Amino acid sequence: MQNATKIGLNYTGTQMSPKDCERQVRASMEVQPDFTGDERNIAILRSTTIAEADAIGSVPIPGSAKGMVITGLSKLAGQSPEVLTDKLGERLAFERGGTRLYEALIAKVESIPDTSPEMLGRLKHFHDEEASHFKLVAGALEKLGADPTAMTPGADVSGVTAMGVLQVISDPRTNLAQSLNALLTAELADNAGWELLIDLANAGGHASLAESCGQALAEEHVHLETVRGWLKSELMSQL
Ligand SMILES: [Fe+2]
Repeated sequence: MQNATKIGLNYTGTQMSPKDCERQVRASMEVQPDFTGDERNIAILRSTTIAEADAIGSVPIPGSAKGMVITGLSKLAGQSPEVLTDKLGERLAFERGGTRLYEALIAKVESIPDTSPEMLGRLKHFHDEEASHFKLVAGALEKLGADPTAMTPGADVSGVTAMGVLQVISDPRTNLAQSLNALLTAELADNAGWELLIDLANAGGHASLAESCGQALAEEHVHLETVRGWLKSELMSQL
């Protein structure tokens, strides 16, 4: 792994071969596609498939008597408890994924010869906090009588969204700055996710849940600002 971005043999840009570039532009004008149509066809296809598609998943019916009672009471009060359950499921998946991101980054940082013990210690601490947030959300779902082992639609979507971040950090070729940049994407989404969850918990009348989420958000805020600071100082040191 190279820790700094270097100048090397990169032929992807047109400046590397202006003559070939001119020929390619000419060819694209001379050779016409052998079909008719434009971007409107893909728009039609998209709208057709969207109209026909099923939902990406559903929030399960509570499997416990407690869950049924809580859901029934919420429904009687005119609320949709599945919205909060879905977002809790999403946070659960995100925090579990967060521990994987930190595990991958810790392995990368450990492989850097003059690695900072302070950074390594903080990464391990953040990893443990992500794991404790996972447990917090699992406990909250259980309190609501919901099943924390179920993958809710939000959990599914957030897992797909986070795939790129995990791929970047797990890639042995990416350096520290590139990995921190990917982690910053995750931490920005993580902070926004907790803020939204707190608002939903408060609106749903779950003040104690909102309060415990507030503690998690405070820790996530430290993650965000620390990762942002590390990224900046890493790039500044390479300038
Ligand atoms: Fe975090």
